[in-house]
Amino acid sequence: MVKICGIGAGYVGGPTMAVIALKCPSIEVAVVDISHSRISAWNSEKLPIYEPGLEEVVKQCRGKNLLFSTDVEKHIFEADIIFVSVNTPTKSSGLGAGKAADLTYWESAARMVADMSKSDKIIVEKSTVPVRTAEAIEKILTHNSSKGVKFQILSNPEFLSEGTAIQDLINPDRVLIGGREGPEGHEAVLKLKGIYDHWVPEDKIITTNLWSAELSKLADNAFLAQRISSINAMSALCEVTGAEISQLSDALSKNTKIGPKFLNASVGFGGSCFQKDILNLVYICESNGLIEVANYWKQVIKVNDYQKSRFVNRVVSSMFNTVSGKKIAVLGFAFKKDTSDTRKTPAIDVCKGLLGDNACLSIYDPRVSKDQIHKDLSMDSEVKHVSIVSDAYEATKDAHGICILTEWDEFKTLDYQRVFENMQKPAFVFDGRNILNVDKLTKIGFIVYSIGRPLHQWMNNIHQP
Ligand code: NAD
Ligand code: UDX
Repeated sequence: MVKICGIGAGYVGGPTMAVIALKCPSIEVAVVDISHSRISAWNSEKLPIYEPGLEEVVKQCRGKNLLFSTDVEKHIFEADIIFVSVNTPTKSSGLGAGKAADLTYWESAARMVADMSKSDKIIVEKSTVPVRTAEAIEKILTHNSSKGVKFQILSNPEFLSEGTAIQDLINPDRVLIGGREGPEGHEAVLKLKGIYDHWVPEDKIITTNLWSAELSKLADNAFLAQRISSINAMSALCEVTGAEISQLSDALSKNTKIGPKFLNASVGFGGSCFQKDILNLVYICESNGLIEVANYWKQVIKVNDYQKSRFVNRVVSSMFNTVSGKKIAVLGFAFKKDTSDTRKTPAIDVCKGLLGDNACLSIYDPRVSKDQIHKDLSMDSEVKHVSIVSDAYEATKDAHGICILTEWDEFKTLDYQRVFENMQKPAFVFDGRNILNVDKLTKIGFIVYSIGRPLHQWMNNIHQP
């Protein structure tokens, strides 16, 4: 039986290894992590992350060919193939601080692999890493391992999106495998391909050299984030000209050269990947003397920051230039729907911006815990200006305004008549995800702001000569 060890039981490692176990019953998959609390959650009824469909997959395989353990060394020792999905955050100090990827976790995983390996192994980079990381990993492995043990490093970046991870893993657009040129590299690529062959059609498995695979992942995220910043930049122009962003998106999406995806204007993109990976790309460009290229990608992040602060400014200026002491209901805190993840969520910056203007926030998110929100807003639980509540009606009761910051489906179907009746007047809605029906809400009596559409009152004014 082939044995796989997955190092890192996070948003990528957990779901990815679970789907491999599901699709390859003949393979034994051990997922290991240094975090005891994460592993015990994976072994419990309440998994450490929320992801639609994940629980079913884990329940089906756990105890059969899928196990979660903190015994990293044992499972490295036993494995034929090791997938490394550890975190690679932005460096917070030292050379490249604020931009470069921090490879501390990767390096420590590689050193453990070197120490524990007594037989040849294939090491698969699942984490997103700077281009040419495999070269550094090879050096660590070859200089620290037992005599005669050989390693092949492959780059197999993960393209799943949170919220649709299981769907993305079961039916991927493509699987990318980069390996060393030469017979040993080729053989390793074929071995990894053999795993995906269990469920991924052959024409969706792309093989490349190591560096193309590594760089493809950074390029992929940079391109996606760039589209959001492009449409968000257009949303600002729509608001001052009377153009409608949804009409613009629709028109753009019909151009087959552009296409319909990633054209939703929003309060800004969040998540653990986009900002970190673009900054990483910026650092690599700067390190190679490509300053103009670095500046180009930096601008994608600047526009994203602008979009978040523009939203806060719109809330404050619409509410008669002050939100001091006013109750604002924040609906949604996760960085997108169908996930409990709040890493780099735009809600953090928006909430901090509103708190900076002395607003009183009442926050509701269907999946994010109270503790997580407290941690993200770096406050102790006693802060008076923030309350975290367990339903949208409670959050909006007596509020002066509502900010929709995550596109959870349940926010589309709230009883807005009831919400309106329980709010202070005039009642404002700031839809940071463009999920609400503006006409319907306006008829109820709300003053509605959505991204890329003029405030309706202002709209009325510009319609009158
Ligand atoms: P995460 O923080 O959720 O998980 C990483 C896990 O690795 C943590 O549980 C941590 O305890 C563990 N870990 C760290 N060092 C370890 C070690 N030496 N031994 C064992 N365990 C160790 O991170 P994530 O969101 O799963 O991301 C992992 C990687 O995948 C990152 O490089 C990220 O850029 C990339 N990626 C993420 C996504 C996403 O949507 N989250 C998508 C594609 C790629
Ligand atoms: C992203 C990439 O899509 C995925 O390929 C990669 O593997 C990891 O990073 P993820 O961060 O999970 O995935 O979510 P994604 O759906 O890409 O959304 C990222 C952010 O952009 C969210 O805050 C989302 O709300 C926002 N977004 C997305 C928009 O504002 N508009 C859009 O049209 C699409």
